[in-house]
Formats: sequence, C-alpha cells, structure tokens
Amino acid sequence: MEEITIVDGYNEISFEERVLLSSGTESASISTDQATTPYCNDAIVPRLPWRSLTSMEQKILFSNKVDNYSNLYVTLLSIPQNILCHLNELGNVKHHTALKYLLEKESIGKGISLIQEYIETFRLQHADLSKYRIGFNAPNQMTVTAGNRDCRVGLHIDNQHGSSLHRILINLGSQPRYFLFINLSIQQLYRLVSETDGNLVSETWGSSRIGRAFMQLFPNYPVVKLKVNPGEAYIAPTEHITHDGCTEGTNSIDVFFTMRSLFNCPHI
Ligand SMILES: [Fe+2]
Repeated sequence: MEEITIVDGYNEISFEERVLLSSGTESASISTDQATTPYCNDAIVPRLPWRSLTSMEQKILFSNKVDNYSNLYVTLLSIPQNILCHLNELGNVKHHTALKYLLEKESIGKGISLIQEYIETFRLQHADLSKYRIGFNAPNQMTVTAGNRDCRVGLHIDNQHGSSLHRILINLGSQPRYFLFINLSIQQLYRLVSETDGNLVSETWGSSRIGRAFMQLFPNYPVVKLKVNPGEAYIAPTEHITHDGCTEGTNSIDVFFTMRSLFNCPHI
C-alpha cells in the first residue's frame, strides 16, 4: 500500500513552501506548549524543531495524481471569493462568545449555504450536508483537539464515522493555521508496529492507540506540517491517518468550518 501523499494540483501556490517536517514526536509532557487546555497524560505531539524537506522527501510526499482506487490523499483548495465575502466577519472575531451571535446573522447563513453548495460539487457520499460544524480554537497551540476528558489528546486518528473517511476543514480565521499528519495509513502503522513487536498491539485496539504505539516505537518518524491560509481548505482522510490541527505562532482565534464525507479530489 502506498503512503499518503499531498496532491499538488493547486496552481497558485508552491507546496514546497507550505510544508515542514518535525524532528519526530515526543510525549506532550516534554512539550513547551503551555496553552490553557492541558494535555492528556498519554498525548504525543510533534517534536521541534521544524525543518524543510529534502528533495527525496518531496518526491515521496508530493504527487500530482491520485490512484483511482485510493481515497488516501491530502490536498488543499482555495474557497472562491464570492463565498468568502459573506464570511469575513468570522475572521475578525476577538473572542469565541461573539461567534454565536454572528452565526445567527443572515449574511453568514448565506455564506454557509454557499459553502454547502460548493462542497456538493465534489462530494461523493450522500451524507447529510447539514452535519457541518463551525468551530474555534485558541491561538498558539501545537495541537488543538480536546477529547471528552477536557484535555488535549495530541496526535490522533478520528473515530470511524460510517464510511465518511474524509474531513474538509475551511480556515475562516484571519491567520494561517496548520494541518499536522503522519503520512502512513492505519494499516501501515499496525503492520510496522506488529512486525517490530508482535505482542505490542492488538487488532482490537482503537486506531489512536495504534498510532500512539507507532510514535513511541518510532519517535524519529517526522510529522508533516501543512500550512492552510485564511480562505483555504484541506481535505484529509482523518479516520485513517494520525493527525491534528495546529495554531502554532498565531495570536488570534482560529475559526473553521468542517464536515466529514467522502470527497473526490477536486484537482483530478
Ligand atoms: Fe481529528
């Protein structure tokens, strides 16, 4: 099985300038990230410093095509201006409490229905389009996802959700945010861990636990950091790869639109 690649069909940008690799991973307890929401005890995060890719790594990570049979790709797309112009106010929010009021405004509602129409043009699965979420994250966090234990889970794999497979996330904030991921599928992680130590994992484990076992066993394996500018979206198979969002280096609230479905790569 092939590694997960970033599909490079997005003409206006050079992916080489958008992507960095971590020096590996480490327990979050070693991390310097001191955001308000603490990390869960078993959380694992990228290890600093970030570095650019070698030309060999670029060859492995970037691709200009998607295998017909594989939905395991990551890509970026630019949301058309005629949609974004309805949603500009979301990017100016100073505090998340203001979001609730903005979401009741007619102009924002118009923007959201235009996003839904736009997504419909490359969506493969007939899921419920109303199951989207407008969310927010605090600035300057190495990883953003908090679980139901009120602590940040670190790099993780999303729980399976029917056959949705992909997540689209649109950056509606005013600053770049990042998508972090390891370019190996859950099947590859499982194989690598069980080949190294057959007693270490069980097939009945949850995906995130297999991901964490991989990162503990291969702490030098890099995490990819992909920059998503305001007005851009990423699509990624978040139920199959170890990942998280990242707001490192920002000072304003991260606002996003997200939904899960199965998407045709819009560039192919
Ligand atoms: Fe996730």
